[in-house]
Amino acid sequence: MIVRIFFIISISIGYSSAQYKVSIPGGVQIKRSHFNRSQIENDLQSKYSNLLTATRNAASSFTSLYVSTQSLTAYGLGSYYAGYITIGTPPQQFLIVFDTGSSNLWVPYQKGAEKKHKKYNTFNCNISTTCKSTKRRISIKYGKGMAKGPIMKDIVCLDGLGVDACTNKNQRFACVTKKTVKGAFDGILGMAWNSMSVGKIKQPIDQIFRNKSNCPEEVFAFWLNPNTEKTTGGGEMSICGIDSTKYTGEITWIPLAKTDYWRIKINSVYFGTQLIGNQTFGIVDTGTSLIAGPPSTIDVILTLVQAKAKKDGTYKVNCTQKSTFPTLTFYINNNTFDLTPENYIQQFNKKEKQVCLLGIMSSGPLNMWILGDVFIRPYYTVFDKANKRVGFAQSVTIT
Ligand SMILES: *[C@@H]1O[C@H](CO)[C@@H](O)[C@H](O)[C@H]1NC(C)=O
Ligand SMILES: *[C@@H]1O[C@H](CO)[C@@H](O)[C@H](O)[C@H]1NC(C)=O
Ligand SMILES: *[C@@H]1O[C@H](CO)[C@@H](O)[C@H](O)[C@H]1NC(C)=O
Ligand SMILES: *[C@@H]1O[C@H](CO)[C@@H](O)[C@H](O)[C@H]1NC(C)=O
Ligand SMILES: *[C@@H]1O[C@H](CO)[C@@H](O)[C@H](O)[C@H]1NC(C)=O
Ligand SMILES: *[C@@H]1O[C@H](CO)[C@@H](O)[C@H](O)[C@H]1NC(C)=O
Repeated sequence: MIVRIFFIISISIGYSSAQYKVSIPGGVQIKRSHFNRSQIENDLQSKYSNLLTATRNAASSFTSLYVSTQSLTAYGLGSYYAGYITIGTPPQQFLIVFDTGSSNLWVPYQKGAEKKHKKYNTFNCNISTTCKSTKRRISIKYGKGMAKGPIMKDIVCLDGLGVDACTNKNQRFACVTKKTVKGAFDGILGMAWNSMSVGKIKQPIDQIFRNKSNCPEEVFAFWLNPNTEKTTGGGEMSICGIDSTKYTGEITWIPLAKTDYWRIKINSVYFGTQLIGNQTFGIVDTGTSLIAGPPSTIDVILTLVQAKAKKDGTYKVNCTQKSTFPTLTFYINNNTFDLTPENYIQQFNKKEKQVCLLGIMSSGPLNMWILGDVFIRPYYTVFDKANKRVGFAQSVTIT
């Protein structure tokens, strides 16, 4: 079964920039943008195909298909958050999606003397004094097209506010000729564990963590403004520290169940007072815009809110009834995490009419939870590499 996922958080198109200053090392401002719905479509199964086919592919350490599917999915869900990184000496800048649901860094590259692409930035190894092209190549399938390119080595920096958060010059990354995705952003920086990396290319975050003088704490954290109406509201990713101005109360820590993705155990799920899901895994994924869950559980929700499937794979609900819908509650490590209808339904104006889209859908044969941006917006999320745990705290809303 192929599940098509689209998720438009708001109908406005274009970038919105976060304007909030960060006082911690290596804070990266991220902004929320939208995909062109008719242009982008995808499914979670392909992003997580290695979970479905783990046994079959255990022997092969290099499967190009995985890269393709990850990269498509990360921006296949309607809205995404992106920020800047630089590569090389002098630095070349790229707008990147920070994706905790994959483990590879890739950017488009400039192969020959051809003109730079108009719609996105390309990496040119020749003009970086620290760049080395390796002999290895990576081949990536994009939907109907194919993109191939070399694996390069260079310095990768998160565009921090005055503080360097950089790898050394031996950081490897994939350089690809970008074909299908237009405009939106340049590449993806995977932040899951190295065991999930295609071609065993270590992701840059561990390298950044290695510099103890710059990076005392092996953590990164995401704040995605719960107020999605505000076009100037974006988000923030911090690295080597957390930003205590972006959450209130205590951080609740959840141990990882496995260090492949940011994978935790979810004990049970309630919709109002009704138990709708038993123990299963959940993956915390900043690169997915919504929440996906086991089909049997999602079916109960769809029925209870009388969701109507739209052609593009999203579900609509009646806006007038929104306030009567129950709270969705996750029991995790003996803590409860509530999502109100305000959190899991996106309401916006379309041609003078209110439209309400459900931020929840089925994860199909994955049969587990993918806790995407719909979950992360109300819960400031800390990814603690050193202690193999994630932390959730009540997010601050900026209006
Ligand atoms: C979205 O993509 C389609 C197909 O590529 C194109 O026809 C349309 O003009 C695009 N819309 C916007 C708003 O960019
Ligand atoms: C980089 O240098 C190589 C070898 O001189 C050349 O073939 C290639 O076209 C150059 N690439 C760019 C983007 O200038
Ligand atoms: C750590 O980063 C600082 C500042 O960028 C740099 O001077 C230093 O050489 C780095 N240390 C290591 C071990 O890479
Ligand atoms: C959860 O497990 C209990 C005990 O095995 C079972 O009775 C119940 O039907 C299950 N509920 C769901 C929603 O799967
Ligand atoms: C939405 O719900 C309200 C209140 O229950 C009802 O009056 C209205 O007809 C519903 N709208 C649609 C399109 O079903
Ligand atoms: C969960 O909390 C309940 C009530 O506070 C307690 O009785 C139970 O032992 C706790 N379970 C675990 C696994 O900590």
